[in-house]
Amino acid sequence: MNVRSISFRLVVWYTSLLTGIFILLGVLFYFGLQHFVENDVQQTQMHRARQIADTLLARIQQTGEAYVADEIKTLYAPEINDRFIRLTRADGRVIYVSGAPTDGSFNPGEIAAATPGPGSDFSRQIHLPGGKTLLVAGVNFQPPNQTSSQQTLSRQTPNQQTPSQARYCVEVGALLDPFEAMLDRLFLQLALGLPLAAVIIAGGGWLLVRRALQPVAQITHAAELITQHNSSERMPVARTGDELEKLSVSLNRMIARLDDAFQNSKRFVADASHELRTPLTILHGELEMLAEDARLDAEGHERVASMLEEVARLAKIVEQLFALSRLDAGEAQTEWQPFDLAELARTTAEHMGLLAEDKHIAISSDASRPVLIEGDRARLKQVVVNLLGNAIKYTPENGAIQLSVNAVNGHAVLEVADNGIGIPSEALPHVFDRFFRVDSARSADSGSAGLGLSIVKSICTAHGAEVEVESTVRQGSCFRVKLPLFKN
Ligand SMILES: Nc1ncnc2c1ncn2[C@@H]1O[C@H](COP(=O)(O)OP(=O)(O)O)[C@@H](O)[C@H]1O
Ligand SMILES: [Mg+2]
Repeated sequence: MNVRSISFRLVVWYTSLLTGIFILLGVLFYFGLQHFVENDVQQTQMHRARQIADTLLARIQQTGEAYVADEIKTLYAPEINDRFIRLTRADGRVIYVSGAPTDGSFNPGEIAAATPGPGSDFSRQIHLPGGKTLLVAGVNFQPPNQTSSQQTLSRQTPNQQTPSQARYCVEVGALLDPFEAMLDRLFLQLALGLPLAAVIIAGGGWLLVRRALQPVAQITHAAELITQHNSSERMPVARTGDELEKLSVSLNRMIARLDDAFQNSKRFVADASHELRTPLTILHGELEMLAEDARLDAEGHERVASMLEEVARLAKIVEQLFALSRLDAGEAQTEWQPFDLAELARTTAEHMGLLAEDKHIAISSDASRPVLIEGDRARLKQVVVNLLGNAIKYTPENGAIQLSVNAVNGHAVLEVADNGIGIPSEALPHVFDRFFRVDSARSADSGSAGLGLSIVKSICTAHGAEVEVESTVRQGSCFRVKLPLFKN
């Protein structure tokens, strides 16, 4: 996976952002719920404590403390409800305390006493051994003043349990346990759900980004397919009004400008080579007539001969340029026919035998079996001529050239190998370029302009063929042309 790719970075950003938001929301939800639950439990306990104070404690001076304790026990049954209730008098005396709850979750005797003070309501959380938490809400209460008859009564019975003006504290508590268990479950669900959500977000993000970038892939693919041979083709434009539409429109405009420039230069080469052919032919004819003129002395004849040589060289270059411009214009397809490439290679090699003999170069051919292909015979002959010509030209005397034509894996393969001077590796990628010569000084005298291999390449391209070269300096070169076989 490419970590610097736009899709990867987008997915990482998007996943981190959404996961971050989820974590934040989860934390807020968890703590919010915890706060709400504790508040609710506290309110309920507080309400109960106040209820005890308002209904039972308010009349304690008439009913007596023992009666109140009894009432609490019967009305609230704290043991059965797993609740804690304690009634304490200002002097610290505990009037009533609930027993251990039926589930035995805490021991009420161990819960520190709260002394009733003049302060108002209070609440506290008590952490019990075993990890449980008891939430206790308390109400400090002073029963209202006694009636005068009761005051008299109390004065008459000083031993009575209810002292006048006594302050009481009612504490009501409940375990936070069930809520804590629920919060724990919620935490577990959030903790497990989050990675799952992150995976779904990342997967969804990946698909979304892939979809969003699909037009870019299409544009890239279309751009790859546009070459000098189909430069009039344009890229698909999705009418979405977005950046991608602008990009494809801009690229199409750029291709149109390049196509224009390219067509202009092709037209220029075609026109120039065409215009130069006639004057050169005339010049050649005139010079030939001059060469036969008896009035010329020996020096004059020599000069005319050298001029004829140069004109012939020029004419050859112009012919090559003209051939290239016609290939560029796509004229190679007009005269296609099936024929035997092996036979063509054999006869061409025979014709060029004289040239090789001059340098005592032996040409051996391995092209006995017919290899049928379809194409322009004259132009493919040019390919063999150019490759063999180069092999002869760039192989020193007494060298050897091997020519072979075979059908391999559904392809016709033509090979021209020599044991000549070879091509340096840095020049190999350029040998098919127009006017490229490895060593211009070396080939200038042999009358070459560096167009032979570009013609080979153009003809091959027109035939849907590939041409490649392997070469080692001072050991030799091998040119290989791979053509589709003829299928009837
Ligand atoms: N068989 C070969 N052996 C060595 N060098 C070669 C061979 N064929 C081509 N080259 C090199 O590639 C260059 C380009 O070849 P080509 O296009 O035919 O031009 P040229 O007109 O110079 O032959 C040549 O100048 C030569 O340096
Ligand atoms: Mg050549």
